Amino acid sequence: MGNMEKVRMLDFQQRGDERGHLVVVEGGVDIPFEIRRAFYIYGSGSDVVRGQHANRRTEFVLINVAGTSKVKVKDGEGNEEIYCLGRPHMGIYLPAMVWKDMYGFSRDSVLLVLASTHYDADEYIRDYSDFVREVAPHMEVVGKSGGRRA
Ligand code: TYD
Repeated sequence: MGNMEKVRMLDFQQRGDERGHLVVVEGGVDIPFEIRRAFYIYGSGSDVVRGQHANRRTEFVLINVAGTSKVKVKDGEGNEEIYCLGRPHMGIYLPAMVWKDMYGFSRDSVLLVLASTHYDADEYIRDYSDFVREVAPHMEVVGKSGGRRA
């Protein structure tokens, strides 16, 4: 299965009652990995683009627990998809080795990110051409001789 096919929306059970809503996400149950890290992004302007990287090892689930944002996912082989987040009971699952841009943040956006690893800056790929080279070396055919770049 290609990495793009692994990207999917997750719909969590809402345990609402007359007191309001409650959503539970358990690692390995509702989230398809054990959660080792959580962080959240807020206060990003509507013109800001975050992410712009791929991760060699880390899987993520992104949940807009308030407000809305968009995620553009690319596989480095010419395929891309845009997902709209904005329902607190829904998340998007992102496998390792996909390029992601988060953008279009509403003023009230709070984007919760659950990750499968502790932070390791070395497993981030922050240059798109490096990403393409790692994910799809066969696409890096350059020059008239058809020689490969490393
Ligand atoms: P960055 O990866 O640029 O955020 P985004 O993916 O939203 O664009 O991270 C911003 C800063 O925070 C950067 O200096 C690295 C640091 N950081 C950590 O220390 N730990 C983490 O888990 C994350 C996600 C970032």
